[in-house]
Amino acid sequence: MAKKYTNPFSAIHWTHAAILTFILIGATLNLPDLPAKGGDLSPFKGHMILGIIATAITLIRLLMVWKRPKLEPLDMSAFRETLVRWNHRLIYLFLILTGASGLITANSTNLGEVVIFGNDPSLYGGPDGITATLGAIHSTSAYTLMALIAMHVAGVIFYMIKSKENILGRVGFGKGA
Ligand code: HEM
Ligand code: HEM
Repeated sequence: MAKKYTNPFSAIHWTHAAILTFILIGATLNLPDLPAKGGDLSPFKGHMILGIIATAITLIRLLMVWKRPKLEPLDMSAFRETLVRWNHRLIYLFLILTGASGLITANSTNLGEVVIFGNDPSLYGGPDGITATLGAIHSTSAYTLMALIAMHVAGVIFYMIKSKENILGRVGFGKGA
């Protein structure tokens, strides 16, 4: 069994972590709700582009997950091991759900047509009807993802304090995979 993930897997872990932190903090603090028809759509451009990049990284990462080495088990109870396994699985699930629901929300009201492809702003359909429901699903999924990531980071820090073992090396770089 390996002591750490491969360097490409570690690289995608940290790239993903950086872009997700940026999107989640940025969207929570700065992204307004979808405006009525005729409103300013420009705040959504950066969010959508970064969201699409993060979702593409998710897909590449999922392909890599099948081939990742099995790591030496950490010293923890069987119950905690199950919690960690499900935390990781749910992070992947909510990454997909968040990306897909964002794309579907945008598509339902032609946001991408206008904001990314620069088409006639009158194509934008507004925030009502099914778009409101899809937007609520997307936001809830994103906040659930945020909670799962917070649990993951807290779990890693807690484990390191208790065991005095630097497990960051498991997603580090160099030899040892
Ligand atoms: C911010 C977004 C982050 C996401 C989405 C994320 C996600 C994940 C996932 C899904 C795994 C499991 C990899 C697998 O087996 O497929 C993992 C492993 C790991 N992550 Fe993160 N992570 C993030 C940030 C962080 C941060 C900030 C730290 C450091 C405090 C960290 C430390 C670790 C460590 C040490 C492992 C290996 C755990 C083990 O061997 O069981 N992660 N991460
Ligand atoms: C993993 C990637 C993504 C994350 C973490 C994320 C996160 C968020 C968050 C936290 C909000 C809520 C902001 C608030 O309540 O004020 C939001 C809203 C939104 N996001 Fe994303 N997003 C992602 C991907 C996408 C993608 C790919 C698109 C479309 C191409 C998208 C389009 C939107 C739209 C249209 C809203 C506004 C929804 C509404 O107000 O009803 N997002 N996103």
